Amino acid sequence: MKFEMIGAGALGLLFGGKLAAFGQEVRFWTRMAEQAELLAAQGIMLQEGEEQSPIGITGLTAYALQEASSRIAAHPFSDWVLLLTKQRHINQELVQALEPLIGENTQILCFQNGIGHLELLGRAFPATPIYAAITTEGAKRIDSYHVIRSGKGLTSIGMAENGGEWTDLSLKNAAEKLIDTLGTAGFCTLLSKDIDREIYRKLLINSVINPLTAMWRIPNGELLATEERRAMVKQLCEEAMAIYAAKSIYFVGDAYDVVAEVCRSTASNMSSMLKDVIQGMPTEIDYINGRLVEMAKLTGVPAPGHEMIWRLVRGLQ
Ligand code: PAF
Repeated sequence: MKFEMIGAGALGLLFGGKLAAFGQEVRFWTRMAEQAELLAAQGIMLQEGEEQSPIGITGLTAYALQEASSRIAAHPFSDWVLLLTKQRHINQELVQALEPLIGENTQILCFQNGIGHLELLGRAFPATPIYAAITTEGAKRIDSYHVIRSGKGLTSIGMAENGGEWTDLSLKNAAEKLIDTLGTAGFCTLLSKDIDREIYRKLLINSVINPLTAMWRIPNGELLATEERRAMVKQLCEEAMAIYAAKSIYFVGDAYDVVAEVCRSTASNMSSMLKDVIQGMPTEIDYINGRLVEMAKLTGVPAPGHEMIWRLVRGLQ
């Protein structure tokens, strides 16, 4: 299979590196030209866990994404565009840069946290099948070409808003072929029965853990350490559930228990939002809590906790 990897952050290097190592045709498209040059010259150093020695994956093709229109003429279109950029980079500029990479038989797979990007891409590429992936793969980028797989996870793939029903079986077949290929490259991947449910489950988790850990500068597990913190976790969970109920978004289980379980299972992790804040980078708050606040306003559901934390994190930027 032929893949265009958009974004070479931790997950981009991990997925692209392993696909390339297992014989797939992979091209990397980076934001910075320097990183593309480095990847083409040095390859990727990939470590399967902190204790393992890195393996080198060389012979890679990598370009800056803004050069796509000039680079692409000589290459046929790929089967899959794997979009692994941050949600905040999915905008009109990115859409324009992607255009030359998308042919008649190309499909897009999005890995972002938050919501809103699938609709934007759907409007930009109405004839292109767009799939969503929810992954619990853990990856730590050490530098522009060195990545550690910090935890083997599970990746679910599906098509948003189909409620798990495939009216067009060729779309399901394409997803299954991709799942096989990812499996061969060492990723535990499955076809989601209902990716929307998983997207909103992830949105809840991210809307609670990410801003609170970013504000308090604590690892995920510490969120459960005091009564005060647990009360805040509970409030954000309850508000999110009220918003979901008003929007008829189905949620399985008790929201607090779901979030608490993720805090425990990722206890020593720094959330992605805390990492962004520490590095002085813009966060994804608008696409997570910002979207929940938008939904709350539209449905008339009060969400003072989400609104406050959204403003507080925005204020950090
Ligand atoms: O964004 C993150 O960091 C992760 O989705 C999660 C689950 C909150 C764990 O750190």
